[in-house]
Amino acid sequence: MHLRPHLLAAATIAPHLVVSSAVNVSVPIAPPSDSQTLSRTLLSFSIEEDRWPEWSGIDSRNDFAYNALTTLGNLTGQPPKLRVGGDSEDHTFWSPTVAINEDQFPSPSTNMPYPEATHITVGNAFYELVRFLPRGTHMTWGINLGADNATNAANMVKAVVGAFATDSVKDSGVILDHLEIGNEADIYTFTGLRSGNWTAEAYVSDWISIAGPAVEAAGIDGPDGPVSVQGAAFVVQFTPTEIFDLGILDSAPGKAITQISQHHYSVTAFCNGSDISLASFMSKEAVRSNLTIFSADIAEVHRHGLTYVLGAQTLTATHSETSSVACHGAPGVSNVAGAALWTIDYALQAASLGITELFFHEGVGFTYNFFQPVSLNRSTTDGSPLDPPAAPHIQAPFYGALVINSFIGSTGSSKVVELDVGDSNVSGYAAFENGVLVRAVFINLDAWLVSSTGSRPSVHVNLDFVGEASLKRLVIGHADDTEGLIWAGQSYETSDVSPKGTLVTEEVLLSGGFDIRSTEAVLVEFGAQ
Ligand SMILES: *[C@@H]1O[C@H](CO)[C@@H](O)[C@H](O)[C@H]1NC(C)=O
Ligand SMILES: *[C@@H]1O[C@H](CO)[C@@H](O)[C@H](O)[C@H]1NC(C)=O
Ligand SMILES: *[C@@H]1O[C@H](CO)[C@@H](O)[C@H](O)[C@H]1NC(C)=O
Ligand SMILES: *[C@@H]1O[C@H](CO)[C@@H](O)[C@H](O)[C@H]1NC(C)=O
Ligand SMILES: *[C@@H]1O[C@H](CO)[C@@H](O)[C@H](O)[C@H]1NC(C)=O
Ligand SMILES: *[C@@H]1O[C@H](CO)[C@@H](O)[C@H](O)[C@H]1NC(C)=O
Ligand SMILES: *[C@@H]1O[C@H](CO)[C@@H](O)[C@H](O)[C@H]1NC(C)=O
Ligand SMILES: *[C@@H]1O[C@H](CO)[C@@H](O)[C@H](O)[C@H]1NC(C)=O
Repeated sequence: MHLRPHLLAAATIAPHLVVSSAVNVSVPIAPPSDSQTLSRTLLSFSIEEDRWPEWSGIDSRNDFAYNALTTLGNLTGQPPKLRVGGDSEDHTFWSPTVAINEDQFPSPSTNMPYPEATHITVGNAFYELVRFLPRGTHMTWGINLGADNATNAANMVKAVVGAFATDSVKDSGVILDHLEIGNEADIYTFTGLRSGNWTAEAYVSDWISIAGPAVEAAGIDGPDGPVSVQGAAFVVQFTPTEIFDLGILDSAPGKAITQISQHHYSVTAFCNGSDISLASFMSKEAVRSNLTIFSADIAEVHRHGLTYVLGAQTLTATHSETSSVACHGAPGVSNVAGAALWTIDYALQAASLGITELFFHEGVGFTYNFFQPVSLNRSTTDGSPLDPPAAPHIQAPFYGALVINSFIGSTGSSKVVELDVGDSNVSGYAAFENGVLVRAVFINLDAWLVSSTGSRPSVHVNLDFVGEASLKRLVIGHADDTEGLIWAGQSYETSDVSPKGTLVTEEVLLSGGFDIRSTEAVLVEFGAQ
């Protein structure tokens, strides 16, 4: 459906739209010098390793996961990258006698309905399941550093590299980019994998003693091969800059590092979410202050000629007193529409700072997932039984991914810059292709909640621009809704992720500007069709 410009002009003065403020935004028509490359896989995923076979499928591909990944990949021309690892990466052991995997799980609890496995034994076929992913998927695989066992690490690396060398995986067009040795090794004393004086210095020599034999076993020698090493994967204690200063890049396995990852949890709060305010989470100011803390590390990583990526969680919660593991998001914050808007602003803010990709962490049944790949018979929020089970489904953050990938586009050459929007709740970004402005996105992060009263506020955006544009809107009932979001007139809450409903774009004359309600995002496509 196309709304004609005159209809839209009428809509903007309709009395039900309470325009509480207006902003003038200057949009450059060519990429400014501080614009950054926008990767087609900016929005990528990290998969908790223990239940990896459920994401890929075991005897045949998991159609739901395949469709979700392909829906996102079709927007940019490349499926999201996948890193398989996380907490269970450091509890995985390769065995010649295990077929796919054997996992030991703790009992679920209210705060942790889907706990991670404490021990995972895998065979070669575990890794060969990658053949079920969309063609063109690039991967990073986690290797166990936690066990401090060089033989096991080498066995895992050989199994990973061997799997990607099989005919079936080669034919699938799924590609191994990186090995990551150790997940969040900086907090190993906290997770119980090391004791004593666990310093960055101790880490570097320990890492070299395990990563060295491991990458050697796979014939990886230096940074130039098809497979290289992702370094760091730290969350809080150590920094990339620290380990560079300790000479990690001069070691034999360190010479194979081409990419550095850091992990970031936006909020530390109780697992039950009761002490987290959704409005403060989806705050423009908080998104910026949470990401600029990485600026010095990003610059240092780039100075060494390496790529910088971020492992992200839409939100995490604190480690409970008795367990060493963090829970997987807070209900009412991580799994709601506000998190979709947070995702857009967070990912594009990260891109504007020179972060190449974000790997949003996902696990079967985790609260903060973009989608649940298999049917679940326990609630993701409190572990209560679900009868009948919940079929595979997308969660609210998935809509954020749709907006991001639509903004990135499919040329593979887009660049991004943040726009200066003079409103404390509205952020904006512009995308350029081949030196020309093509799209902009605006996100109104003011939280309109189920409990909000009065008229829903709206901001009128004027661009210093004439001409026509086509708008696509992410329409949200309330920031705390878990479902019912609509992107460009369509719902993706279907059994196979295919959009339901008629595509709606709004054709506007930019001289009149446009409105964006609290808790809404608008994609502006210039040079409207
Ligand atoms: C936006 O620009 C218009 C036209 O130049 C001007 O009248 C108005 O005061 C500006 N508004 C703000 C909020 O700067
Ligand atoms: C993705 O694009 C391909 C090629 O155009 C098409 O065959 C496929 O149906 C699309 N898949 C989804 C899930 O949109
Ligand atoms: C290290 O791993 C190898 C291979 O799985 C195993 O045989 C060996 O017992 C392990 N060593 C220790 C100290 O656990
Ligand atoms: C821990 O090790 C660092 C250097 O590796 C050293 O400076 C520090 O004194 C040590 N701390 C303790 C408590 O042993
Ligand atoms: C949430 O968890 C914290 C810490 O475990 C506890 O103090 C608090 O009472 C819990 N709140 C609810 C509503 O369950
Ligand atoms: C990160 O954002 C959260 C809200 O989501 C905020 O409470 C916290 O203070 C921010 N952290 C930093 C370092 O700015
Ligand atoms: C869910 O399914 C698993 C595996 O089939 C089973 O062990 C478990 O008891 C079921 N839980 C509920 C609450 O039905
Ligand atoms: C911004 O959003 C916050 C939180 O939703 C709200 O309290 C505040 O009034 C908003 N500010 C403006 C300028 O709209």
